[in-house]
Amino acid sequence: MPRSPEARVPGTTPDFLGFSTKHPTQGAISRARIPAVTVPGAVDLSVNIGALRLPNPILAASGTFGYGVEFARLMDLNRLGGIVVKGLSLEPMAGAPAPRLCETPSGMLNAVGLQNIGARAFVAEKLPALRKYHTAIIANVFGYTIEEYVGVIRILEEAEGLAAYELNISCPNTAHGGIQFGSDPQMVSDVVAAARQAARRPLWIKLSPNVTDIGIIARAAESAGADALTVANTYQAMSIDVRTRKSKLGRPTGGLSGPAIKPITLRLVYEAKRAVKIPVIGLGGIEKAEDVLEYLIVGASATQIGTASFSHPAACLEVLNQLEKYCMRHNINGINSLVSSFQADSA
Ligand SMILES: Cc1cc2nc3c(=O)[nH]c(=O)nc-3n(C[C@H](O)[C@H](O)[C@H](O)COP(=O)(O)O)c2cc1C
Repeated sequence: MPRSPEARVPGTTPDFLGFSTKHPTQGAISRARIPAVTVPGAVDLSVNIGALRLPNPILAASGTFGYGVEFARLMDLNRLGGIVVKGLSLEPMAGAPAPRLCETPSGMLNAVGLQNIGARAFVAEKLPALRKYHTAIIANVFGYTIEEYVGVIRILEEAEGLAAYELNISCPNTAHGGIQFGSDPQMVSDVVAAARQAARRPLWIKLSPNVTDIGIIARAAESAGADALTVANTYQAMSIDVRTRKSKLGRPTGGLSGPAIKPITLRLVYEAKRAVKIPVIGLGGIEKAEDVLEYLIVGASATQIGTASFSHPAACLEVLNQLEKYCMRHNINGINSLVSSFQADSA
């Protein structure tokens, strides 16, 4: 069973994931091999996401990297392309009942319920420490009404040290009978336009994969003012304990992530990129450099790593090192040359 990254760090308090006791860190820390230092500047891994320049295309994904600071003892955060922090709401949220995680073939299900400390506490308690790093910090924002999304952005706008916002639109819109914002083009357009008005910083929209045609949703976000798209969030899924006939999670359903979803999300990135001109950031099931390359080839300008950090907290840097070595071995001087290099005619 995968465990919370926070549970692996001594001296921190768990836990987004419902583990009420602290797990022994012995072993977990020693497994978290700190990647070797590589020669800086050997390969140009820098990427542009609109106006924002990142030193490399490897970002830590929201909800799988805490508020970033928890990982500072395990790796040099300055080496990451960026950190997308845990989703922030207007008020603190306690989250869903345990169990919040369960393992599935080649992946895992989670029902964390978007537990977080709230936007104000993030600004007061986490951002000052994060600001000391020169890595781009991206605030993941969510709400259950458009006003809540805008409220979170207004709080964050007052703070220094954020590079961009990433809007998680996989939330139910309580003003519209609980339909996910991200599943309806009009609702996407409304929430993105409102966020755009409130935000001075770049606005990334993280799309839900639980849609019929991602191109329509991608275009709605772009037309309403998105600077980039993040593709995609987790897939609604279930896992049942046949003995009790109950969900293996504290809720009937959860979100599927990990290697199992990579081929499906890869297709979504490909389709989203064909529909828009703005940059697309790909994520879903990335565990190694080859996974990153696949996402870049079908059109992603950068990638994020989520679930892999649960089994190996230093996964982001491991993948970054692999990517750098791959580029050196294959004489790829600039990583951007790979973006959208997909050969459609090669079966
Ligand atoms: C435990 C857990 C918590 C997550 N929390 C958030 C969140 O707060 N906001 C968000 O936009 N995505 C959240 N996600 C989704 C991930 O950022 C990512 O989109 C998804 O897991 C697919 O990538 P992966 O297969 O590399 O994990 C969460 C995922 C997991 C596994």
